Amino acid sequence: MLKPYNYDNTDAMQKLTSIWPNIKYTTTLNYLGNKMQRLAPALREDNVPLDLISLIKTILAATKEISFRVSQAHLGGLMGSTLDENIQGEVQKKLDVVANELFKDILLESGFVKAISSEEEDTSVAGDEYGKYIVSFDPLDGSSNIDINSLIGTIFSIHKAPEGMSADDPDMFKQAGNKQVCAGYVLYGPSTMLVMTTGSGTHFYVLDRTHGGYLLVERNVQVPTETQEFAVNMSNQRFWQPEMQNYVSDLLLGDTGPRAKNFNMRWIAAMVGDVHRVLCRGGIFTYPMDTKKTEQPYKLRLMYEANPMAFLIEQAGGLCVTSKGRIMDIEPTSIHQRVEVILGSKKEVEACLSYYK
Ligand code: AHG
Ligand code: MN
Ligand code: MN
Repeated sequence: MLKPYNYDNTDAMQKLTSIWPNIKYTTTLNYLGNKMQRLAPALREDNVPLDLISLIKTILAATKEISFRVSQAHLGGLMGSTLDENIQGEVQKKLDVVANELFKDILLESGFVKAISSEEEDTSVAGDEYGKYIVSFDPLDGSSNIDINSLIGTIFSIHKAPEGMSADDPDMFKQAGNKQVCAGYVLYGPSTMLVMTTGSGTHFYVLDRTHGGYLLVERNVQVPTETQEFAVNMSNQRFWQPEMQNYVSDLLLGDTGPRAKNFNMRWIAAMVGDVHRVLCRGGIFTYPMDTKKTEQPYKLRLMYEANPMAFLIEQAGGLCVTSKGRIMDIEPTSIHQRVEVILGSKKEVEACLSYYK
C-alpha cells in the first residue's frame, strides 16, 4: 500500500544525501522547506468565493477519474477511434468520448453549473437553471497522442452564468475571455498536474495519489520575457501568410540572420503540453492562420483552447494574441469558433507581431 502523503521519508533522504551530497532532498511533507498547501486553502488565500471553490473541486474530481482511465486505457480496451465524428468533422477517439461523458455528467449533476459546452458536444447542454456558472471544456486535448501513450490533457474555462437567460440558451457562452473567472488545464503526464488561475496569478499543482488531492507546488509562475525556443507545426509553412513565413524564416536563420541568435524548435502536438513548456521555461507557441483548408483558416478553438490558455499565460506575464489583437478581447460568435493563436514570452510575441505591421 502507498504511504500517506505526509509520510516522513527522512531516512530514505538521508541515505540519498550520503550518496549525492550536493543534491537537496526534501520530505514529501515539505516542499523546499514549506509544508505543501492543499488546493482549497490555496484558493481561499486568493479570495476565491466558496461556490467557485466547490465547482473547481467538482471539475477536479472528474480529472482524477480521467487520469486513472487514461493510465488504464490499453488494458480497458479504450485505445483507438470510435466510428463517430464530432460536429467539427473530427474523428472521435474512444477516450475523447469517455472523458467527455465523465466531465459532462459530473458537472451537470453538481448543481453548480447552468450549462456546459464541450468540443465533443454539438451545442451547449443545459444544467441547473439556478447554477451560477457555465463551463467550456476540451475533455482531451492532443487526441492524436492517445494511441502513442504521449502527453494529453483536459482544458477548462469558467464564466459566470448570465442572469435572465434560460439554461438551454447557447448564447450564454458568447462572453469574451476577459470575463473568465477561472481557467486551467490538467496534464496527464508522468505526474498529473493542474495549472490554474482564478485571476490572482497562475499556479501549478500536482495530484498526490497517496491522499488523492492536488497539492500546490508553484505559486505565481512567470513566463520568461525572452526566449530562444519556438513551437509551430512546420509542415504547414507553405500555407501561412507571408508575415508568419518571414518571421519563422528569420528564426531558422539563427545567428546568421537578423535575430542574431539561434532558436530551438519543439512540437508536442497537444496544446496543453506546448503551453506547459512555455509556462515552465518560456517560448513562443503559434497555430497561425493557414490556407490548407479554405473553409477553415484556423485550427484552435476560442472557447475551450485559446481563451483558457490566454488567461493562464497573461496571468503569468506572457502574451496571447492573434495577429490582430488580444485573444481575450474577442467577442465570440459561436461555441466552436476557431481562432489564430500566438502566445508565450512577451518580447518574442511582440517580435512576431512586428512582422505584421
Ligand atoms: P484536440 O486533440 O483537442 O482536437 O486538439 C488538438 C490541437 C492542439 O492541441 C494542438 O496544438 C494541435 O491540435 C495539433 O495540431 P497538428 O495536428 O496540426 O499538429
Ligand atoms: Mn484540443
Ligand atoms: Mn479534444
